[in-house]
Amino acid sequence: MTSKNKFPFVTCHCSLVTASEMKHFLTTSDWKRAELEALIVSAQAFKRDEDKSKPLAGRSVGLIFFNPSLRTRASMQVGVYELGGNTVVLEPGGTSWTLEHRDGVVMDGDKTEHVAEFVRVLGRYCAGLGVRTFAQLKDWEDERRDPVLEAFARYAEVPVINLESAMHHPCQAMADMMTVREKLGPGRKRVLLTWAWHPKPLPMAVPNSFALAAAQMGHDLVIAHPPLYDLDDELMRDIETQTREAGASLSVTHDADEAFDGAEVVYAKSWGSKSFYGAPEKDTETRASFRGKWIVDAQKMRRTKQAIFMHCLPVRRNVIVTDEVIDSPQSVVIDEAENRLHVQKAIMQRLMQDAKGGGGT
Ligand code: CP
Repeated sequence: MTSKNKFPFVTCHCSLVTASEMKHFLTTSDWKRAELEALIVSAQAFKRDEDKSKPLAGRSVGLIFFNPSLRTRASMQVGVYELGGNTVVLEPGGTSWTLEHRDGVVMDGDKTEHVAEFVRVLGRYCAGLGVRTFAQLKDWEDERRDPVLEAFARYAEVPVINLESAMHHPCQAMADMMTVREKLGPGRKRVLLTWAWHPKPLPMAVPNSFALAAAQMGHDLVIAHPPLYDLDDELMRDIETQTREAGASLSVTHDADEAFDGAEVVYAKSWGSKSFYGAPEKDTETRASFRGKWIVDAQKMRRTKQAIFMHCLPVRRNVIVTDEVIDSPQSVVIDEAENRLHVQKAIMQRLMQDAKGGGGT
């Protein structure tokens, strides 16, 4: 994702830096494989308690949540604290003003403040910003461009971390890649991303980012989903390019069982069909026939090579995955959630140790 900053120069405590030099963490596709590998190495050092540095000492990070969270919110707050800093948590429309992100609109509706002011004001207080802004599943062509996250990045004068947007959840994907390496060691693995039935359509950020990161890290990737539940075309082209360049394989299947054959990693997630953005009742009706078929159960797991089971959480037990699988030794979901903390510390250290943030003229 490219985000052109609205302003060519950013005034920081330390120095004048061009906005284009400032690095955000919006999607892993903005980062090279070597940089992602370095983040995992750094996260491992935090996890082993070998890195005790406090790059955020005396500084604050703004966390903006348009949507609910357990793991992301808690791990970011704990992570900032462990790096020596303080968090400012804001919920637009709840504990702070409702926000408009579109440029050029007459704000005579229910939005009180524009991202243009919100983001730059917070940047004067904070070394970096994290933002969570889910897809609303109303308008595919609009939401696939990640307009709210893009507005934050466009106006930001400090680094922005995507804490799950309409299209990406890169912090989750990095924790996922760290977990795969931790459990199975380095090198290429056979990784299955499988759609699962859920009573209602959900956003696509997690499967998008998982598939993208797995491709960037050079894994052999199988994506399994029912017809009509394909991922974004442009994203799939990117994934195809990444796997080809890494010498890895990519396949897409509509077979819920065969997909498990030989897998070393099973990653389950439900998502909505882009064909049904704006028509959730059609999605619910379409997916009804997949109930019971698209669930991760012991029978499917037996087709794998003793695969680890992964899910970003929260997960609906006996809907997405059976109790038997999620409670089995193959399930790594709790370690995966823990790794959010370590990898986000690595990301914040990388982004914010030099960008002092704040301090207007
Ligand atoms: N996986 C994840 O992002 O969890 P939360 O929605 O609880 O933050």
